[in-house]
Amino acid sequence: MTIHLSDKYPKIIRDLFRYDNNFGPSNSFKNLNFPFDYDLSKLYEEASSFDWIGPGKTKSLEKIDRILLYKSKSESNIIGIPIVQQKHDEKEEVCFNTESYPEWNNFLKNIKLLGGVLLITMSKMSPDGFIYPHKDSNFVAHKIYFPLNWPRGCYFKIYKNGLVDFSDLKPKIINSGEYIHSVINDSKEERIIVSIFVDWNVEPWKKIFEETF
Ligand SMILES: [Fe+2]
Repeated sequence: MTIHLSDKYPKIIRDLFRYDNNFGPSNSFKNLNFPFDYDLSKLYEEASSFDWIGPGKTKSLEKIDRILLYKSKSESNIIGIPIVQQKHDEKEEVCFNTESYPEWNNFLKNIKLLGGVLLITMSKMSPDGFIYPHKDSNFVAHKIYFPLNWPRGCYFKIYKNGLVDFSDLKPKIINSGEYIHSVINDSKEERIIVSIFVDWNVEPWKKIFEETF
């Protein structure tokens, strides 16, 4: 699908969305089901009322606020992940106080019970926000992206692999460490997405990965 963006976005992003129509069968992303229940609308509602602070409220070009939700004790040297808000003690696993957010407490409890979770961050992108084409830190190439909402006009584009359709609000495994990608919010609403890094050598993630790819 060709997307014509207005010139409020940088040319390299406009060109990527307009001219890169070279899609093939892709192994760059796949759907994933978490092996536990959650209430997405409650997660979204609670996350919307988090104490978000960051460059989205200043003059940042990217218009993104980020929250570090969880960092495994074993993973103390994660490089290349810009976190704006860090309310955590290095000794603590839970970085953001979710005490008054029952659905998030539940989600974090359930996902940690699986084991092998390294890092969980959340990003809120304001309308007109964008991320330049890039590859993520590849300390874990495959990242789980879990959208809490996906307003019409939000796009996640992978170079030569097309658009990742998050409108189903399903979590996906994306090889963002090896594939160039760019993200925009060309809607009028804020968009919130959760990024999860796991150790794919640890069960049940190993099994999930093998079944997915
Ligand atoms: Fe990225």
